[in-house]
Amino acid sequence: MSFYARGRSARAGAGAGHETCAALHMQSALSPGGPEAALLGQLAWVLFIGAALIFVFVMALAAVAVFSRPRAIDGERWIVGGGLVFPVTVLSVLLVYAYRTGASIADVGVPGALQIEVIGRLWWWEVRYRNPDGSQTVLANELRVPVGRPVELFLTSDDVIHSFWLPALAGKLDMIPGHVNRLVFSADRPGIHRGQCAEYCGRQHAFMAFYVIAEDPADFERWLARESRPAVPPSDPFLREGLEAFMRGGCGTCHTIRGTQADGRLGPDLTHIGSRRSLGAGVLDNHVGTIAGWIADTQTIKPGSLMPETRVFSGRELRAVAAYLDSLE
Ligand code: CUA
Repeated sequence: MSFYARGRSARAGAGAGHETCAALHMQSALSPGGPEAALLGQLAWVLFIGAALIFVFVMALAAVAVFSRPRAIDGERWIVGGGLVFPVTVLSVLLVYAYRTGASIADVGVPGALQIEVIGRLWWWEVRYRNPDGSQTVLANELRVPVGRPVELFLTSDDVIHSFWLPALAGKLDMIPGHVNRLVFSADRPGIHRGQCAEYCGRQHAFMAFYVIAEDPADFERWLARESRPAVPPSDPFLREGLEAFMRGGCGTCHTIRGTQADGRLGPDLTHIGSRRSLGAGVLDNHVGTIAGWIADTQTIKPGSLMPETRVFSGRELRAVAAYLDSLE
């Protein structure tokens, strides 16, 4: 567990990223968390084991050729059989298998699917849940999905080409400006999975990560209902001071906090930032200390990020802003 992680229910599994084994499985195609990912994992194993067997067979033939006594063989039969018939057969079978696997997980327009738009930005992820009433619930760098229900992602980009890569659940698909790609997956058990951008998109490409939290349908519905509500106006005087400093500092030009006058669209929606696992798209664990550090020194933590470092706050104001943002759950 991270030193700072607190056991708050809203921040699912905060600090779990530091548990090495869990972290390995969080982002591995070999630890599938759902049926689509299981098919992709199976495909990977078939290709790997098949290639290993063929490699061993070819090496054995090479060893025989090198170490056994010379003798007459039917060279033409070996060339036609081993160089033509064998590879054509194996590759054809694999092609059909891989194609059918791809086709079976590319089913789009699944009835009853949870629909989420994910937009690649420099260098973070905007997430928009499409609600049945036509409204959208907006957040960033984190998706929650209910176990057992198909999820249909609409992937696009606002700037350059990114690639949405979620190996333990969904595989990988490009995010292209002006074009929407669809990706369907589902989770078959609760868990936290990590994904990241898989297409070089500039200076902070390597620090463009996100988390997907699969949870019980009832927990998910509760979370979505809370996430859809505007922020609660702070009653605590220190938190109120934080909100006032946030507005005075101009943060609302780039960020939205629903329920306040902050309605900027350039950066992540912060309405419920306190409930998210990470800051800066997976760069830092999210807690009051890292929020303050991020605001004051963004360009050291994530150089080139479009968020300028904000040095307009006094120490007290910075602590108040951080405490206010941290309270938005
Ligand atoms: Cu976005 Cu690489």
